[in-house]
Amino acid sequence: MSDNSDFNAWVSGLPKAELHLHIDGSLQAHRLLALAEKNNVKLDYKTTEEVEAAYNFVDLQSFLDLYYLGASVLKDEEDFYHLMMDYLLKCREQNIVHCEIMVEPQTYFPNGVSFATVMAGFKKAIKEAEQGWGQSVLLILSLLRHLSEQEAIETLTQAEPFRDDFVAIGLASSENGNPPEKFEKLYRVAREQGYLAIAHAGEEGPADYIWSALKKLKVQRIDHGVRCVEDATLLQYLKKENIPLTVCPLSNVCLCVFDSMTEHNILELLEEGVKVTVNSDDPSYFRGFLNENYMALHEALNLTKPQALVLAKNSFEASFLTADQKAQYLQKLDVYSRG
Ligand code: HPA
Ligand code: ZN
Repeated sequence: MSDNSDFNAWVSGLPKAELHLHIDGSLQAHRLLALAEKNNVKLDYKTTEEVEAAYNFVDLQSFLDLYYLGASVLKDEEDFYHLMMDYLLKCREQNIVHCEIMVEPQTYFPNGVSFATVMAGFKKAIKEAEQGWGQSVLLILSLLRHLSEQEAIETLTQAEPFRDDFVAIGLASSENGNPPEKFEKLYRVAREQGYLAIAHAGEEGPADYIWSALKKLKVQRIDHGVRCVEDATLLQYLKKENIPLTVCPLSNVCLCVFDSMTEHNILELLEEGVKVTVNSDDPSYFRGFLNENYMALHEALNLTKPQALVLAKNSFEASFLTADQKAQYLQKLDVYSRG
């Protein structure tokens, strides 16, 4: 076997967690077209090839425009069930034994879809996956930062009937011009209600946004965060406080955060001792689920098996699982690493 196929087989079997996944970003082209047809949503795309040809982005906003258009085909409980189940089946296929999934109800509200419809479909799929093959799933209520703080707070209020279904809140969408401090009150209210907290910061936005996510929003981990390298004091702080970064290599190259995978800084951060993890972000749009992200690092940056083991270990340690659950997964990883 060539080195790549050996690594591919090994990474495929590696037990791992995915901590940065927008469920709408897992909507595959064939499902998007089928749901558009079913729900009479008119799109400019007729074939999966045409949809995939549009996966051609110059920055975050150019991606978000297509991402929200894609989500507009989702209308009823069954659609949300399929969206979640398609991703959970991928988890089974790729040995993603635990996942923390961002749900963004504000995306669907303008299309007349209620929070209850979304949750009914998602929860049905999650229950089947948990009972079917022991899939572990936590949900994160992700708010959209291009909208107002007031709208985010209203969404948090609407989430009250589903309080037990979400472990944390998060912050996604257009980063530049929407700094973390815009949502200080939201995070305070959520903290009082017992939510843990994460936020996208330092993807396109500056290192200062990572500081304010940490200091003003008091997040437990940072989504992306790759621009932390621009601030040596911040880098030291992330190391000292053991703050995890959920890094998304294929996403960063697709959205031109890095010119190519060979330029990506994840392995420098890893060697520096920052708690980095590998994630797919929006796998359908960025042409790769979790294993493909590990493979891209192997091919471009020579990711080794010992490094991949640390990344997988980090993925469990940085998760919102209990200490006991983490210990069980780390034990499985240890067994796997001994071959
Ligand atoms: N950044 C911000 N918002 C997002 C992303 C991202 O990479 N993916 C989906 N929503
Ligand atoms: Zn993201």
